[in-house]
Amino acid sequence: MIYFVTSNKGKHAEARAIFADLVQKDIGYTEIQADTLEEVAAYGIKEVAARLDGPVMIEDAGLFVEALQGFPGVYSAYVQRTIGNAGILRLMEGMERRDAYFKSVVAYVEPGREPIMFNGEVHGQIGFEERGHKGFGYDPIFYVGESSLGEKEIEEKNRISHRAASMRALKRWLEGRR
Ligand code: IMP
Repeated sequence: MIYFVTSNKGKHAEARAIFADLVQKDIGYTEIQADTLEEVAAYGIKEVAARLDGPVMIEDAGLFVEALQGFPGVYSAYVQRTIGNAGILRLMEGMERRDAYFKSVVAYVEPGREPIMFNGEVHGQIGFEERGHKGFGYDPIFYVGESSLGEKEIEEKNRISHRAASMRALKRWLEGRR
C-alpha cells in the first residue's frame, strides 16, 4: 500500500492504473515557489512524510512551452486557474512553433528513509483549439500526434504520459528492490 497525496482525481485515476494498491489522501501540502518541480516535490514530500505513517508518494507536474521559454512551467497550476487553456491559446496566437512538453516529478518516501525522486516527460504540440473532455488541466490543448490528450482514454494517455513515465520508474525501482 502506498499513500498518494493529491486532490486531483485525474491524477489519482492515472496513478491507480499503474499502482493497484494506491490510497488517495486529500490532505494538501505546501507547494513552495521555486524554479524547479524537483524543489517543489522535495519540500512537499518531507511535509507529508511527517504527517502520514507509511510509504507516501506525491507528484508535481508542469507544462513547458518552448516558444514561451518554458512558461508556464512551475507556475502551471496558477496559470491554469487564471488564464486557463483559452489564455494559453491566445498567448500563442500567430506562433508557428508550438512545441511543448509536460514534465512530471514523483517523490516517494518510506518512514525513516530518505525520499527518492523520478521524472518523466512527454513531448507534443500546443494545438490551435481545445479538444476532448477526457483528461484534465491542459490536456485539451496538448496534442500528441493527431489528437489531444483530452481525447485519449486513460490507458492511451498512460502509454505516453509524463506521469506514467515517472511513476513507472518508481514502480521499477520498488520491484527491483524486492
Ligand atoms: P500540479 O502537478 O498539480 O501542480 O499541476 C500543475 C498544473 O498542471 C495543474 O493546473 C494541472 O491541472 C496541470 N497538469 C498536471 N498534469 C497534467 C496532465 O497530465 N495533463 C494536463 N494538465 C496537467
